[in-house]
Amino acid sequence: MSIAEILDTMSYGPAPESDKEARAWIKTLGGETKLFIGGAWKKAKTGESFETTAPGSGEVLVRVAQAGAADVDAAVKAAAKAQPAWAALPGHQRARYLYALARLIQRHSRLFSVVETLDNGKPIRETRDIDIPLVARHFYHHAGWAQLMDGELADREALGVCGQIIPWNFPLLMLAWKIAPAIALGNTVVLKPAEYTSLTALLFAEMCQKAGLPEGVVNIITGDGATGEEIVKHPGIAKIAFTGSTEVGRRIRGATAGTGKSLTLELGGKSPFIVFDDADLDAAVEGVVDAIWFNQGQVCCAGSRLLVQESIHDRFIAKLKARMETLRVGDPLDKVIDIGAIVHPVQLERIRSLVEAGVKEGATLHQPKAGIPGKGCFYPPTLLTGVHPASTVSRVEIFGPVLVATTFRTPSEAVELANNTEYGLAASIWSETLSLALDIAPKLKCGVVWVNGTNMFDAGVGFGGYKESGFGREGGREGLSAYSRPKWLAKAKAIVEKPAAQATGDVLSTGFVDRTAKFYVGGKQARPDGGYSRPIVSPSGALVGEVGEGNRKDIRNAVEAARKATSWSTASEHNRAQILYYIAENLDARAGEFADRLAAMTGQRRQDTMREVSASVSRLFSYGAWADKYEGAVHKPPMRGVALAMNEPVGTLGIVCPEEPGLLGFVSTFAPAIALGNRVVVVPSASQALAATDFYQVLETSDVPDGVVNIVTGDRDALALDLAKHEEVDGIWYFGTAATAGAIEKASSGNLKQVWTEQVQRDWFDARQGEGREFLARATQVKNIWVPYGE
Ligand code: NAI
Repeated sequence: MSIAEILDTMSYGPAPESDKEARAWIKTLGGETKLFIGGAWKKAKTGESFETTAPGSGEVLVRVAQAGAADVDAAVKAAAKAQPAWAALPGHQRARYLYALARLIQRHSRLFSVVETLDNGKPIRETRDIDIPLVARHFYHHAGWAQLMDGELADREALGVCGQIIPWNFPLLMLAWKIAPAIALGNTVVLKPAEYTSLTALLFAEMCQKAGLPEGVVNIITGDGATGEEIVKHPGIAKIAFTGSTEVGRRIRGATAGTGKSLTLELGGKSPFIVFDDADLDAAVEGVVDAIWFNQGQVCCAGSRLLVQESIHDRFIAKLKARMETLRVGDPLDKVIDIGAIVHPVQLERIRSLVEAGVKEGATLHQPKAGIPGKGCFYPPTLLTGVHPASTVSRVEIFGPVLVATTFRTPSEAVELANNTEYGLAASIWSETLSLALDIAPKLKCGVVWVNGTNMFDAGVGFGGYKESGFGREGGREGLSAYSRPKWLAKAKAIVEKPAAQATGDVLSTGFVDRTAKFYVGGKQARPDGGYSRPIVSPSGALVGEVGEGNRKDIRNAVEAARKATSWSTASEHNRAQILYYIAENLDARAGEFADRLAAMTGQRRQDTMREVSASVSRLFSYGAWADKYEGAVHKPPMRGVALAMNEPVGTLGIVCPEEPGLLGFVSTFAPAIALGNRVVVVPSASQALAATDFYQVLETSDVPDGVVNIVTGDRDALALDLAKHEEVDGIWYFGTAATAGAIEKASSGNLKQVWTEQVQRDWFDARQGEGREFLARATQVKNIWVPYGE
């Protein structure tokens, strides 16, 4: 036998990582873990606990405390007590603590890796080389944001106490994604790890003690979903950050509705892995291994749907099957292992039953010959071919090492198949033609795209989804807005709706021609479906005019028109800027007429209404200016390559304007939305609706394409709910009362649309409150396109 033959046929011997130190540390927990509250270790007041097991062997590692309502309350109180002083520290002081945590994690990296592997079942190679280094990187990166906050985010402040609920697939990494940005910006936290994987969070709490972190800044509470629910409903919490299943995310959306808590959700996915016929097929096969067999496929952004161009399908699948034969499944602590254990028998059963359903629906099953260890919670790498795009396994997140494959013929078919999912987390594109890949990337409806790569993450690059994969971003500059708010908000007064003026029967002698304004839908004036109109009454009770009374059907028509106006979202920024300036010019030309109308509706002096019109013209100029300046970023993550952060429009936005000021509130909300490529359905102020209906002619003379701006007048709160319930509305903005804001948030959980409700009075005339980056950020979602390079 030649040396080459020996090398080819040699098999790997076991290379086990020692778990001695990890087990010694687990022993120090004393058989049952405690909760980390206010910097001290406390027994759970419930007296209850549950087992946590090593999925690789099934052995019980320790019992984990089940926190109840009283424990959660104690943790929230400790966090609330610590928060003002923590936020008041100079950024540099907070930076030093985060830096200390990063250093401690690095110093204890092997212990963290082994504890994580024991508790979760993922291969030691992954915890050692991916999870833990990324955790340290997250604390370093956010130490930097703490340092820079006073200058770079001078107009923003912390939210308060953040409740953070994380899943079991990347236990310590998800903790880092949540805790690092939160405490960097002056928040304090109550974090609950998932019930299967609590241990590294407790080890992290020990690092907080070692770093001398002030008591109460980080509190770790263990328990199951019931504990999570207690966190979600606690009134002392300002924000909930959740990563986990879409089902629970939806429930949390409902539970936080109307509470004023801010919310970010990182949910499931069914991400496409697209292989074009000019891809480097061997590299793409390795990509598949990383996409779906990394972490046993228990990855929210796993490339679980393989879309292969038809002409290379057979060749690619043959290569993939050959590669599958070489994957090693087994003891997660063995350094030669590729695929470790599934986290829990419950998950294993879920995977089995979904694969069974796939086969029943006609898919062909392929698994490697080597099989899996007889003991422990294992599932082999699995490929299902001949899968129909509508079948269960193509749609449902399996969250296991199961890849479903299908074919496409043309790039546009690939895009169509890729987007044919209610999720929108990530995608991989494989092609040696970069122009093709970069043409496809913006067409995919998801938050992250990897070109010739997969599952790349970095603290400086935002991560998060579109559609039912949730909203909000973690990492990057965009992740910071989820943990801070404008400073002026804290002092703002709540919106109080004034009772509508009662008509006296008089008609205001304004010289306006008597006509009932219709709606503006798809660039045309449309009559109300219900055939009703409502009066617009001056404060003295005189009739100023009438507008249509919109209903659900009118909203439906308006949404349909907005959805059709897709070319606006891909129009050039320059083009959109020109149109905004043109709207401004046409409004300016009719300034006197608008000022008269506003004066009639509000009883204000004409000089004041002129001021409102001028402010509206200026605002339109601002967004004309912003249209081509709210640019993305080119990130330089630690690799050879770049990540392009692109600001994409949310899509179809429903905007329910503030009740007053009637014209400036209308312009200040629809203009940023369309400047960045959204198409909008606007419900204007009810009492000053004529300001919006008079605007139709301004829009018509300004070359605004049909369907970009649609206007439906009527009962704002009722129409807001119709928009919130509509499954084809991607986001909704509502400026009004707390009661309706809550109802909107609840109704929005159907398609998990992005919701921005605001119940405080803004000074719309003040540019710091009435315009700028806050609006632009709400009008966009960031997509990060990773482009590695090299020979
Ligand atoms: P899950 O969504 O139930 O659990 C995630 C976290 O939420 C855990 O900490 C859990 O204790 C907590 N939780 C559960 N119910 C809650 C409630 N009502 N209120 C507040 N917190 C609650 O996920 P689970 O059951 O562990 O896994 C089920 C499926 O979810 C998986 O098969 C997978 O499809 C998906 N999943 C997705 C993840 C992702 O990163 N996208 C992560 C984990 C699971």
